[in-house]
Amino acid sequence: MAVKTIEWKNDRVVMLDQRLLPHKEIYRVCRDYQDVAEAIRSMVIRGAPAIGVAAAMGVALGALKAPVKTFDREFEKIIAVLGKTRPTAVNLFWALQRMRNVYSDHRSRGVENVQRALRDEAQKIYKEDIAANKQLGKFGASLLRNAKHIMTHCNAGALATAGYGTALGVIRALKESGQQFEVFVNETRPYLQGARLTAWELKKEKIPATLITDNMAGHLMQKGKVDAVVVGCDRVAANGDVANKIGTYTLAVLARRHGIPFYVAGPTSSIDVNCRSGDDIPIEQRDPKEVSHIFGKSVAPKGIHIFNPAFDVTAQELITAINTEKGVIHPPYQQNIRNHVSH
Ligand code: MRU
Repeated sequence: MAVKTIEWKNDRVVMLDQRLLPHKEIYRVCRDYQDVAEAIRSMVIRGAPAIGVAAAMGVALGALKAPVKTFDREFEKIIAVLGKTRPTAVNLFWALQRMRNVYSDHRSRGVENVQRALRDEAQKIYKEDIAANKQLGKFGASLLRNAKHIMTHCNAGALATAGYGTALGVIRALKESGQQFEVFVNETRPYLQGARLTAWELKKEKIPATLITDNMAGHLMQKGKVDAVVVGCDRVAANGDVANKIGTYTLAVLARRHGIPFYVAGPTSSIDVNCRSGDDIPIEQRDPKEVSHIFGKSVAPKGIHIFNPAFDVTAQELITAINTEKGVIHPPYQQNIRNHVSH
């Protein structure tokens, strides 16, 4: 796909401003790590793997600008600031940990050496993510061989990653295999990642897609119009519980009710074996205005109390399989996830 989500260019981080899609394709240039942190916080860039890649590039950028005299103090500050941007996607913390490991391994060889190593590591994380998505796409596609009607939620596409996508990576791989199918795209209230981003990506790729509002999913399933659901993930706990965009749990319950397989696709960087279950996953609460307003226009009475969790947790027993770049994980998840990540 021609669109670049994020790129390291001339010691700057350039990202497509996803807040403006699908109507405007404008790239933002981040000149220091604070710009990157603000871009993650304000959703210029979003989606678990893309947040991880952006954070890694943010660290590299910050390290490049850090004064030699106060380098170590500055490095800790950079990690802390980026670590406070968004709490749910574990890819953020995974990427920061990788950058911290590189810092520790190279620090004794001088600041210039660490700076170079951090920049290389950020590039490595970027490239690895694209490769992982292509690989997991193939594994996911093998699960959807007979599916003619596939539903997805939120945006787990090229825009949510360094490229190619996770759930949409599966859909891309399926298309590349020559299979004919159509995708139902849930609009994904309140932030509309489905309507604004997934619909845009699929249209660009000429993959047949139908946009629906979230509350139409059950109706379609009841009418026998959905053969499989595939979604991305922000964090997979050690027991297989999955945090993903708000509304994912509802879909999983509906899918179970109608005997429809429910698949989760994501790189191993989205698995958090230190998180015992979904109960331990922090759920981001976002601005009430995302619910009360649509494109800046109020749609609710002023002063109404609002609840706006950005993610929910789907219990492992509702998930048919989870696939990563290493293959497909089937239940029982506790044991199979442990084996999967250690190989
Ligand atoms: O709030 P967002 O847009 O960052 O949420 C994104 C999602 O929930 C995606 O489904 C998830 O990150 C997987 S992206 C490959």
